[in-house]
Amino acid sequence: MPKVIFQKSGQEAEWDGSEDNLLELGESLGIDLPFGCRQGRCTSCQQTIVSGSLEYPDGHVGEPDPGKQLLCCSVPSGEEDLVIEA
Ligand code: FES
Repeated sequence: MPKVIFQKSGQEAEWDGSEDNLLELGESLGIDLPFGCRQGRCTSCQQTIVSGSLEYPDGHVGEPDPGKQLLCCSVPSGEEDLVIEA
């Protein structure tokens, strides 16, 4: 199971699938993350990904800026730890 590390917040957790997406994981750790629609449309939840990879199980409509990804509708992919700048 990959670990998800929120770099600036100094928080981390193993991804065990108990949260629906990375935004909810961050919130469960008490991190104050921006969001809007929570449906992959508005891009309010975009964050810079430092390393690792993620995927969008249900796709997304909004396009994040280069180097950023939408946390509200994504989950880690692969075995490498996922480091998020937030
Ligand atoms: S909160 Fe709107 S795209 Fe994630």
